[in-house]
Amino acid sequence: MSPAGAQTLKEAIGKYCLIGAAVNQWQSDGQVPEADAVLEKHFNCAVAENCMKPETLAPAEGIFDFRVADKFVNYCRQHNLKVLGHCLVWHSQAPDWWFTNGYAAAPASKEVLKERIIKHIKTVVGHYKGQVHGWDVVNEAIMDDGSFRKSPYYNLLGEEFIEIAFRTAHEADPDAELYYNDYSMSGQAKREAVCRLVRNLKAKGLRIDGVGMQSHNGLDYPNLEEYEKSIDAFAACGVKVMITELDINVLPNPEGFGGADIAQNFELQQKYNPYVNGLPKDKARELDERWMALFNIYYKHRAQISRINLWGISDGGSWLNGWPIKGRTNYPLLFDRQYQPKPVVNEIIKLYK
Ligand code: G3I
Repeated sequence: MSPAGAQTLKEAIGKYCLIGAAVNQWQSDGQVPEADAVLEKHFNCAVAENCMKPETLAPAEGIFDFRVADKFVNYCRQHNLKVLGHCLVWHSQAPDWWFTNGYAAAPASKEVLKERIIKHIKTVVGHYKGQVHGWDVVNEAIMDDGSFRKSPYYNLLGEEFIEIAFRTAHEADPDAELYYNDYSMSGQAKREAVCRLVRNLKAKGLRIDGVGMQSHNGLDYPNLEEYEKSIDAFAACGVKVMITELDINVLPNPEGFGGADIAQNFELQQKYNPYVNGLPKDKARELDERWMALFNIYYKHRAQISRINLWGISDGGSWLNGWPIKGRTNYPLLFDRQYQPKPVVNEIIKLYK
């Protein structure tokens, strides 16, 4: 660290917790040198945006394809980044064959799905044993009203699929940290349901180290008081709290939009894409104020938060340019389309001095 003190996010925030970003395939294939530079300078951990998800690793029954994910893990090693695994069991980006018995029409049986989850976790976590700091074992299994998502996992196996996943992941790599990850985590019903889930797993003697609050935020959501209550509530369950997929959507959104469910898709209209040529000064100021409001919370709760992870590196690569409306120009991250730090990055660094 220079005599002038922390100059980077890693030097400043890294004193308290992991600071990372989601990396896409082009970046981990080494095709974006600007990304390499930002990651090495500002971050000490990374998560694969897509290439460690079940549909990529298990494209067909009995076949595992680690080529892209292995490149990602090697890329992290080359750039001194701890690896976070995302994700093992999720209703989205799961291979279709998991839920069928080979004949598209007939759903897989309870026993078959159970065996497939166990085989997937044993194989994937085993393959990266000792190389992955922690895994998002189960992702987005609870709805905003606190009920379980009626996924094929829950419909066939009930809540047991979560216990199977955490037990199997721990057996496959006893040193890896294990997490439950979800979005819209500042809602009271979801907060209480996730606390119940954590306590149930612990009561059954199963390892769970942390809860991930994805934090796909906006300029006026979530309510920050409720957001802080969730950080305290999850920490009170005796687990680490992580901000796992942080971004701020600055664009106006259609009625009925919410959460982070990728299935939402709306038609492109100019009124929903007003900043193609850059953010107006007042909107940029509003965005900076939102970043500082969030990081002031993270700094205040630094004893409870073990990781802050942005969902992408630069604005140009963000999923929020294509969701929930394809073809928009969004500004949701801390580095601009030229991979240059936005002025607010310095304010964040000063906060953590
Ligand atoms: O790989 C195919 C490519 O072959 C094809 O040509 C292209 C054309 O459609 O699609 C590519 O797949 C896309 C994939 O990203 C890789 O780029 C999928 O269509 C697209 O749906 C997928 O989007 C990802 C999304 O998860 C899927 O659910 C986003 O990049 C990723 O940021 C997003 O991340 C999720 C977290 O995992 C969980 N929490 C919410 C978060 C945002 O939805």
